Amino acid sequence: MQISASILSADVANLAAVTAGLERSGLDMLHFDVMDGQFVPNITFGMPVLAAIDQCTNLFMDVHLMIKDPLRYAEQFVKAGADLVTFHLESDSDPVQTIEAIHKAGAKAGIVLKPGTSWETAIPYLEMVEVVLVMTVEPGFGGQSFLWDMVKKIEALRNYALVHQLDYQIEVDGGINAETAPRVLRAGAEILVIGSYLFRQADPRAAMDEIRAEAIKLHDETYA
Ligand code: DX5
Ligand code: ZN
Repeated sequence: MQISASILSADVANLAAVTAGLERSGLDMLHFDVMDGQFVPNITFGMPVLAAIDQCTNLFMDVHLMIKDPLRYAEQFVKAGADLVTFHLESDSDPVQTIEAIHKAGAKAGIVLKPGTSWETAIPYLEMVEVVLVMTVEPGFGGQSFLWDMVKKIEALRNYALVHQLDYQIEVDGGINAETAPRVLRAGAEILVIGSYLFRQADPRAAMDEIRAEAIKLHDETYA
């Protein structure tokens, strides 16, 4: 499993220091939430901020586009440093063209499902993507409560991958903490986005280690 820290909840005036600290603490990825004030009501940051952060870290850049027209900007985000670009199936862009544009630009591609979107909506694209991101809160803001109904969606996507021998990873985003992490790991999630919970911790390394220990326990149970 991998942990992707959502910098939406970080001290953004000190992003370089915060990022360096998390990198030393064993973080796997930085989760960069792009919001345009149209697809979601909130506005966050864009390509120049991503490029600036990318300059001060070697961390893998996980870019989550919550924008109306991801196809228009996909290549620019890859050029700014994105290693993975995920975009919403509920956006206005054609999913196949958007996945192709991300791949052509040289990054991994992922599709995102809002809580109200059925997992079956993703089926036509599952052979093409490296990641499926299941939103476990409504996109737009950090610090919301985990939607427990989403556990079934993660299980369905995990089972589909097993039956059809596909190797996309399932990422989850929203309300992940020490209580919800074991449930999503058990359901089949492999990349856990953690925002407010991680940035509330006095010792982020210990919090990440606790969640990783849970993943190791599950792995041992499965293969015992
Ligand atoms: C919400 C964002 C999330 C958010 C997660 O739209 O996509 O990445 O920052 O934050 P927490 O972990 O606080 O729910
Ligand atoms: Zn996100």
